[in-house]
Amino acid sequence: MKHIRMQTPRIAIIGILLAIQFLGAQEKSFHIEDWEKRLNKRQPPVKIMDAIGVKQGMIIGEVGAGTGRMTMWLASRVGDSGKVYANDINKKSLGQLRERSKRDEFKNIEIIVGEMEDPKLPAKTLDIAFMINVYHHLDEPVPLIRNILPSLKSSGVLAIVECDPDKVDWGKEEGCTGKKDMVKELDKAGFKIIRIETFLNEDNIYIAKPKKEIREKAKEFYQKTLELNPASKTAKMKLDELKEKMP
Ligand SMILES: C[S@@+](CC[C@H](N)C(=O)[O-])C[C@H]1O[C@@H](n2cnc3c(N)ncnc32)[C@H](O)[C@@H]1O
Repeated sequence: MKHIRMQTPRIAIIGILLAIQFLGAQEKSFHIEDWEKRLNKRQPPVKIMDAIGVKQGMIIGEVGAGTGRMTMWLASRVGDSGKVYANDINKKSLGQLRERSKRDEFKNIEIIVGEMEDPKLPAKTLDIAFMINVYHHLDEPVPLIRNILPSLKSSGVLAIVECDPDKVDWGKEEGCTGKKDMVKELDKAGFKIIRIETFLNEDNIYIAKPKKEIREKAKEFYQKTLELNPASKTAKMKLDELKEKMP
């Protein structure tokens, strides 16, 4: 009996702490329109967020958020310790998004009215810049994407969900961007695609990092290799190549 009396408060405290943690980590619910439910079958938000690594506490910038079909999922996943900057050039859609975020009591969504070639996202802030069903609607994708670059943290990534003309017969007519063009255009905008997720039936997910960040990481790696092994010819050669590209 004595043993049980000693254990009970400790168990109760652990229980309360676990409950607080569970409640804190719970994702907030929100209203989903019928048209969104249909589109979410093609592009399941949870699977997409898992694929690009959206986590509690992250700061996301969604470019072309529209009325917030995906914004709400992102805001629910990042929680109160995170934030979603929802950008678009369409003020009417953003007005509807503002209303729905108020109605569902989301305090972690900030609306940003952007310009055609400038999303006006805050500098060095984002863990992920995200875009879904937007890329092929852009008049000038390269300058817009280039202007996303300064808003990323050094560890930040760009994630784009785009329909694939090789997967769907309506893709060419709709103007969907294929893999080869995506690689070329993102390269022009200063990004290198580091992973392409192809598990969706009609779309691909492109995950890219700024080329400058990739070069800096490679430079650090070869510098360390040379410190450990000053005779390494490969490390010296690679470092010289990188210094030429990035003096
Ligand atoms: C097909 S809707 C997709 C909306 C939302 N991402 C979704 O999946 O429900 C495309 C959106 O891209 C926006 N858009 C087009 N050009 C843009 C630009 N240059 N900057 C930001 N948004 C843009 C449009 O206003 C529109 O809201």
